[in-house]
Amino acid sequence: MENLAEAFLGLSREDFSLLGAIETGMRTHEWVPTFIISKLAGLSASKSEYRLQHLFEKKLVVREAQHYLGYQINFDSYDLLALSDFVRRDQVKSIGERIGVGKESVVLEAQGYASLAIKFHRQGRTSFKHVRRLRDHLKDKPRVPWLYAASLAARREFAVMEKLYPKVSIPRPVAISRHALAMEYVPGPLLNKITLSDPEEGLRLILQEVGRALDLDIVHSDLSEFNIMITDSGPVIIDWPQAVDAAHPHSDELLKRDLGNVLRFFRSKYRIDMPLEEALTAVREAERI
Ligand SMILES: Nc1ncnc2c1ncn2[C@@H]1O[C@H](COP(=O)(O)OP(=O)(O)OP(=O)(O)O)[C@@H](O)[C@H]1O
Ligand SMILES: [Mg+2]
Repeated sequence: MENLAEAFLGLSREDFSLLGAIETGMRTHEWVPTFIISKLAGLSASKSEYRLQHLFEKKLVVREAQHYLGYQINFDSYDLLALSDFVRRDQVKSIGERIGVGKESVVLEAQGYASLAIKFHRQGRTSFKHVRRLRDHLKDKPRVPWLYAASLAARREFAVMEKLYPKVSIPRPVAISRHALAMEYVPGPLLNKITLSDPEEGLRLILQEVGRALDLDIVHSDLSEFNIMITDSGPVIIDWPQAVDAAHPHSDELLKRDLGNVLRFFRSKYRIDMPLEEALTAVREAERI
């Protein structure tokens, strides 16, 4: 979608009811039949059909006509549903530029009570295998894996952030809806984009944050120069959906991998040669404070 704000303003309340109805219907149907959509939306059949055609033309729904005509929402309309929730709850007042596009998320700038970043998770868009396996263990099997995977990732990330904030330097988590997580905007570049004036101190502060997270029994598990932002008040660690509990059987390995990534970066960019053992000691010390 080119512009989320424009798309948002272009939709009527009835359009949002229809999208919400399809979302609900997707719990039980892979393709939601029109009569179920109109019933859930509380709209007449003819009105529903007319508006659904309009949503289809705007590429906000997909449809399939095999045994019957059925609809699904897509990531664009899922984004709009989440955004409308934030707006309704007064958590978001306006949205701005796209500030990050990863393999597994799209991040937009927004304004609420403060400057915000909204991270729309995109897990499950390309790889369904892992999700299918996960889903097989569930009683209430979601029909549409991407929808489930993305909202699960957002919920995981939000839960971890709520546990870490404010003890660890991370963006303050503000709100969640579906696959979308609103957090405070971090005013600063990623570690890989700048040259630190005091890299020894930078590394020390990063290890201190890793130690503080460990004190709360959390290992990031995807730490690198791409998930550390640098502000005037120090490093801020972002991107937590894959974090694991310290009790996780691989947490030691993951912690060493995290530290290995950071040390490799400081070695190659700043020629600081810290052995892994020394970093582990620094982390354990910070953990105790
Ligand atoms: N709170 C924030 N404030 C400012 N910018 C942010 C914030 N959160 C994320 N960003 C920007 O968005 C980019 C992507 O965010 P993040 O690292 O959380 O997701 P990702 O890398 O796409 O996730 P994944 O690693 O799952 O693919 C970051 O590199 C950063 O530039
Ligand atoms: Mg990242």
